[in-house]
Amino acid sequence: MTGAVLPTARDAFRYFRVDFFNMVTVIPPRTTQEYWPGLIQHYAKWLPVTDKTPIVTLCEGNTPLIAAPAIAERLGKPCEVYLKFDGLNPTGSFKDRGMTMAVSKAKEAGAAAVICASTGNTSAAAAAYACSRGHARLCPDPDGYVALGKLAQTLMYGAEIIAIRDNFDCALTLVRQMADHYPVSLVNSVNRFRLEGQKTAAFEIVDALGDAPDWLCTPVGNAGNITAYWMGFCQYHQQGKTSKRPRLFGFEAEGAAAIVRDQVITHPETIATAIRIGNPASWVRAKASVQVSQGAIDAVSDAEILEAYRVLARSTGIFCEPASAASVAGLLKYRDQIPSHACIVCVLTGHGLKDPQTAIDHCQAQIHAGIDPTLSAVAQTMGF
Ligand code: F0G
Repeated sequence: MTGAVLPTARDAFRYFRVDFFNMVTVIPPRTTQEYWPGLIQHYAKWLPVTDKTPIVTLCEGNTPLIAAPAIAERLGKPCEVYLKFDGLNPTGSFKDRGMTMAVSKAKEAGAAAVICASTGNTSAAAAAYACSRGHARLCPDPDGYVALGKLAQTLMYGAEIIAIRDNFDCALTLVRQMADHYPVSLVNSVNRFRLEGQKTAAFEIVDALGDAPDWLCTPVGNAGNITAYWMGFCQYHQQGKTSKRPRLFGFEAEGAAAIVRDQVITHPETIATAIRIGNPASWVRAKASVQVSQGAIDAVSDAEILEAYRVLARSTGIFCEPASAASVAGLLKYRDQIPSHACIVCVLTGHGLKDPQTAIDHCQAQIHAGIDPTLSAVAQTMGF
């Protein structure tokens, strides 16, 4: 294949065609197929692993960067918008990137069990990576606030869930104390290996685009992921793999916007339960990263999140979970500030099937129930 030029995600944008449903993207065919061994093996030289690290992987990473002309069109100016759909990781969220690292390093250190606090995705990922390797795991989750899909996964993988009568921030305090006093390895993003794994999403974006984007928009909850993206972009930039670093734009939910308001929120509330966090653990680092990048952390309302959630599904065919839609809600909110011809990536952190109840409650679609099983009844319902 010498001399063959592989298409980048930007070529996909150039070749796109919006069909009459306004959502199909035509991507030029790949010219080679490579086996993807998981992100640790693929990016080993950029990660704190050695030959002695037992790699625990579900072949996570390598998620698609999807051109979204329908979202670009809504911005009302010429620009390129891509969606990094990390909901296509093995457990359906970006947490797998951090968990492959955290569990591999826990195993290397001889840990017998892992523990985490979670709004649902971290616990699902921790359970998947740790359980199947015989590590006991415990996942304190806020009682009654974990989306159904996440709960089902975590139980199915065999984790023990401790539903506490308080929110994520309280659960995180408890698991930190547990890890201080008992032989359990903490796998929340305060574990430095988590962010190391998560930074690979930035590498993948650069590898797909051929350079860093101008803007990166992402939801913010505990503020680890935005920090990890900055680590990744900085590392690639230092090594000459990019000509620039992106401006970072992080979006908290309005009812849980601790960083934006510069105060701890004792009772965070939002429909986007994944980011229902009032005292983000990586607050300081996230804020510093965003400042250096000349970006911003801002808040989006539940109404804006739900609107973006529906727009994504209907105009791009991508079903993400509500928290993920905060990145696109934020982009739409910032439409007047976007420079023409900007290249923008919005991160979609989790899959929509994680939270079927919110989808059903807020899809604004109709089920025609109780229809007679006859041709005429179906045709009539369809308006023929
Ligand atoms: N999007 C989703 C789908 C999430 O699950 C989370 C965090 C975030 C965004 C925010 O990322 O915390 O790094 O700023 N979920 C955590 C959990 C808190 O327990 O699953 P962050």
